[in-house]
Amino acid sequence: MHATEFTTPAREEPDDRFAAVVAGLGTCLPRTEIRNAWFAERLDTSDDWIRARTGIATRRRVTPDVSMTDLACAAADAALRSAGRTTVDALVLATTTPDRPCPAAAPEVADRIGQGGIPAFDVSAVCSGFVYALATATGLLSAGLADSVLVTAAETYSRIVDPADRSTAVLFGDGAGAVVLRRGTARETGALLAFDLGSDGAARDAIHVPGEREQPEGERWFTMAGRKVYLRAVEHMTASALSVVKDCAWAPDDIGAFVAHQANARIIDAVADRLGVPSEAVVCEIARVGNTAAASIPLALADAADGGRLEPGSRTVLTAFGGGLTWGSAALTWPHLTPVRSEI
Ligand code: ACO
Repeated sequence: MHATEFTTPAREEPDDRFAAVVAGLGTCLPRTEIRNAWFAERLDTSDDWIRARTGIATRRRVTPDVSMTDLACAAADAALRSAGRTTVDALVLATTTPDRPCPAAAPEVADRIGQGGIPAFDVSAVCSGFVYALATATGLLSAGLADSVLVTAAETYSRIVDPADRSTAVLFGDGAGAVVLRRGTARETGALLAFDLGSDGAARDAIHVPGEREQPEGERWFTMAGRKVYLRAVEHMTASALSVVKDCAWAPDDIGAFVAHQANARIIDAVADRLGVPSEAVVCEIARVGNTAAASIPLALADAADGGRLEPGSRTVLTAFGGGLTWGSAALTWPHLTPVRSEI
């Protein structure tokens, strides 16, 4: 295995050292809802199979006139409103479903939300993209290159999954989420206290969309070795989440909110069990939106915050896993904020 890992140094109790602080949270979902029954009418599948094996009941999909960039702009704008700000110094966009291969979408998002001119770039880490983008934005803040960064994650997987493939078509939904990060200290609520990131490119084919050279003929759809990915997801999210919990000197039963990438309710439960996270801390919002790839963590955070499941100061652990393979985790205390939601 060719695994590469970056782990932050062990931290003591929260103090006045630098930290990136979460200051706003916004989301955008397409209005069109696709229930499990819709697939059961078209494919050899059933509502029972999808609910039992994934936890998904329904998901949202974009209509042909809505782009990934439209979703990203709406979520970014909502996050700015949640933070009570009109400007930021930089924008990082996590996506693996760009509307076009070149250029990156982030400069367009920055321009369309009235922030033209700021540094803006995309991060491609599949379902780990939001955590990778959070870490990247924290680096910009730490290096003094920005005092505030908009971290946006937006996906339109409905455009890359084969509608005739029951093993992937039922899993994914479209959506976007965004947070505003600002320079602050580790003592503040909302402070990001630890990160862990990793990858294993030797397993790159477990989740992939073939390129033109790999597959010159025919349509190039998303494929996933479901069972293999399931096992690797449990293994890496458990180890990665444990790493940030240890860096913060927290115990698993201190965790107030555990928000794993929302790919499969059984994976989330298996990781939480292995870590020893209390069941009431586990956030699982997959039933309403399916797997929205990089957007899944901010969408789940907004649902949990609106549902009163995230208290200011709660010790919160985010963990993600996706194609690459990639994985990553972050630990933070939950800030005082009200999410702003939008639909398109
Ligand atoms: N309806 C009915 N049957 C189905 C369906 C469906 N929609 N999909 C697959 N099946 C069948 C399979 O064909 C197989 O049949 P067989 O036993 O006759 O061969 C059977 O169900 C079992 O298939 P498995 O793949 O073993 O099912 P499993 O319980 O593993 O569930 C799933 C599949 C949901 C994909 C699961 O493996 C999973 O969630 N994997 C990980 C997903 C993940 O974490 N992805 C990473 C992030 S996503 C990203 O990076 C973009």
